Amino acid sequence: NVTVDRAISAFRAGNPILIHDHGDREGETDLVYPAGDVTPESVARLRNDAGGLICVALSDRIADAWELPFLADELTHSATDCDHRGYDERSSFSLTVNHRDTYTGITDEDRALTISELGAAALKPVQVSFETTFQVPGHVHLLRGAPDNLDDRQGHTELAIAVATAANRAPAAVVCEMLDDETGDALSPEDAKVYGKKNGIPYVEGADIIRTVTQSSQ
Ligand code: 5RP
Ligand code: CA
Ligand code: ZN
Repeated sequence: NVTVDRAISAFRAGNPILIHDHGDREGETDLVYPAGDVTPESVARLRNDAGGLICVALSDRIADAWELPFLADELTHSATDCDHRGYDERSSFSLTVNHRDTYTGITDEDRALTISELGAAALKPVQVSFETTFQVPGHVHLLRGAPDNLDDRQGHTELAIAVATAANRAPAAVVCEMLDDETGDALSPEDAKVYGKKNGIPYVEGADIIRTVTQSSQ
């Protein structure tokens, strides 16, 4: 699939891509970068042009190496008991983090440091001491991919990890929802495509990623 190939090539080169999950799921388009390539300029684009929540998706393998849980499993508060979102069985939220060399953790420079160091650490997860490199809580949300990734769940978390894997990059990707500045709603797929064209950012459908990745692993 040509749109998937373009997205994988861009991602491999460290450039952003746009991933629309599915009209029957969130119906959202996330702006996605390889975590290791994120700069303060990328964080500025994520907050100004995407506008959603800036998160780093990590594979199950990396999350295991760093003992990162699903947040809902760790909290005993009764508000975690039942998930009423309707489009998926569970959230992929894990902990929030800052790199230990950040000051407040929220500036473009601080978040870029946290995100890019997560990307670098994901290349050698066992050699990195997570607790002495990062601090919890922080200003970057971690997302934990499902154990069998797309076979288990088809969220932006797993879609981004699948693209990273296909691109031979570390399974660590920053994702952020594209919101519509006029309405505050999720940006429509049509408008996300226009934004992509205007900025040279490939737009790809989750269903096409799933099809391509499933075919290549058969
Ligand atoms: C965190 C989210 C986003 O939807 C993000 O895309 C990751 O979640 P999912 O894997 O469920 O799509 O909720 O901002
Ligand atoms: Ca969401
Ligand atoms: Zn999502």
